[in-house]
Amino acid sequence: MQWARFLWSYVSYRKDLLAGLLACSAVMAAAELTVPWLIKQVIDAVLGDEPSVGMNAWLLLALGVLGALYVAHVLLLRIDALMILHSSYELRRRLLHHVHAQALSFFDRHRSGELTHRLTSDTKLFETSVAKLFRDIPSEILVVVGVTVLMFVLHAELAAVVVVFMLAAAALTGYLGQPLPSLRKSAQRVSARLAARFQETLAGVRTVQGFNNEAHELSRLDEENRGVLKLELKEGKVYALMEPLGDMVELVGLVLVVWYGGRLILADEITAGTLVAFIAYMEILARPLGHVEAYVRSIQTSRAVGERLQDLLADREKLPTGGRFASDAAPSIALESVYFRYPGAERDILNEVSFAVQAGEVVAVAGRNGAGKSTLMDLLLRFQDPSAGRIVATGADLREWDLDAWRRSVGVMPQEIFLFQSSIYENVTYGRPDAAPEEVDEAVRASGLERILRRFPDGLRTEVGERGAQLSGGERQSIALARLFLRRPKLLILDEPTSQLDGEALQLVRAALRPLMAGCTTFIVTHNLDTIQLADRVLFMEGGRLAGDGAHEALHAQEPHYRALWEEAGLSAVKGAAGVSQAL
Ligand SMILES: Nc1ncnc2c1ncn2[C@@H]1O[C@H](COP(=O)(O)OP(=O)(O)OP(=O)(O)O)[C@@H](O)[C@H]1O
Ligand SMILES: [Mg+2]
Repeated sequence: MQWARFLWSYVSYRKDLLAGLLACSAVMAAAELTVPWLIKQVIDAVLGDEPSVGMNAWLLLALGVLGALYVAHVLLLRIDALMILHSSYELRRRLLHHVHAQALSFFDRHRSGELTHRLTSDTKLFETSVAKLFRDIPSEILVVVGVTVLMFVLHAELAAVVVVFMLAAAALTGYLGQPLPSLRKSAQRVSARLAARFQETLAGVRTVQGFNNEAHELSRLDEENRGVLKLELKEGKVYALMEPLGDMVELVGLVLVVWYGGRLILADEITAGTLVAFIAYMEILARPLGHVEAYVRSIQTSRAVGERLQDLLADREKLPTGGRFASDAAPSIALESVYFRYPGAERDILNEVSFAVQAGEVVAVAGRNGAGKSTLMDLLLRFQDPSAGRIVATGADLREWDLDAWRRSVGVMPQEIFLFQSSIYENVTYGRPDAAPEEVDEAVRASGLERILRRFPDGLRTEVGERGAQLSGGERQSIALARLFLRRPKLLILDEPTSQLDGEALQLVRAALRPLMAGCTTFIVTHNLDTIQLADRVLFMEGGRLAGDGAHEALHAQEPHYRALWEEAGLSAVKGAAGVSQAL
């Protein structure tokens, strides 16, 4: 019972509240059971030989019992809300931590819209269905057990008739509700897919509109939307059969008890008071039994959704972390026969790559699209681990380093720059939120961002829009560079840092990169000949292999493929190089 364990871990988050809830349920059940018993006492006394019963005392007693019932019910609802809300908070917290503890390949498996759906819709649905169960089920189980016992005490034969009838009704409801969990699970899965697809169309809205593809996207969204409808209609059909059954059970049960009980009175086997008590107990019993359908629904829903949440929590992709801490010095990096293949892929993206880079060296990485350059950088960042071979940083396998500390020592400018929806200031200080204002000013100056800021009246307080959409590509790159200046890394990884800069910005950035690279081991992935000049040496990647390693001029002279790379790009490498050295 995986699900039961999950449910328990959810509600047992606040054991004190759980205990309080069960106590209130017990008081409620006891109070409810007492009322028909009191009615029987008074009726039998009034109709009996000795009608001198203390009616006022009886009324006080009955009101006292009802008062206790009311207070217990109020408390129960308060505690239920507190318990469930706290548990949901804890569940969301667990999910958030879980998702952000995963390695990058986890995110290749899950779409962001789907994860959002699980964190919002699934948890909410789980919360509502579990809240219902814990609010009603404990007291109603106690009531059912108590009523059954009391009915047997009053008259075993009549009680047996009632119990057999009720069991048959409950079995029928359970049978009808069987398809519900799998239907609910599918419905949640399909609506998560709808959410993921919708989010994708929003993220890519410029592409959608640019290709005039709204109709196509809408028809794909509609397909998922219709999938949700189909499953929910099927669910509705099951409920339509189950719900009226609850009402019927109550009435049929009543008729049955009056018919059988009436015969027993005629045969002088029971008193009128006993029959009235039975009718009252039936009335009480009918409520939980009428709720069986709703409970089945809540149990099935919480089970279906709980399983989805459990699956997500069980899906973990964690990179092991070692205990070694980086020293303050720039690291040396050596790759020893490194192979890498993406999970589920059929070919190696990196193929027996070996090289050694001294501490403080500046290395350019060049190669055609898809050669594996960004993948290599991901390995250095430890977004992924090699499938075979090892990466050695300052004499120790990267896997032996403390993962967080290693990442802290690395400064990265990814190929696709991501800005958060806030001000330029917050984006610049993203890697160092505690940076002093002078440090921020210095980073802004050194990175050349200052020149861009002059165009914005709000300067650093300018809002960048969702994902930085309100800025140009070059502006985004400048912000990412300023971010790196504040970070003061020991290993610098720049994946095409200047691809979107204009001539003037390029000059500024190239001048700015030099001080940034001082004291760092640097890797610069680039298709730009000017940027290559910043490096002492070039690693030339071709189809996942290291096809050349040396100074740009030497590679250009000796490696025809390397030469072709630049010539195809329409650049005269030699001329470009000469031009650059003059500029520098
Ligand atoms: N997450 C992924 N899952 C599976 N394959 C991937 C993934 N990311 C990249 N690849 C594949 O790995 C290969 C190398 O990609 P990579 O991004 O390292 O190339 P690159 O050299 O940086 O190219 P570019 O110059 O275009 O940036 C490509 O063929 C790509 O299709
Ligand atoms: Mg790349």
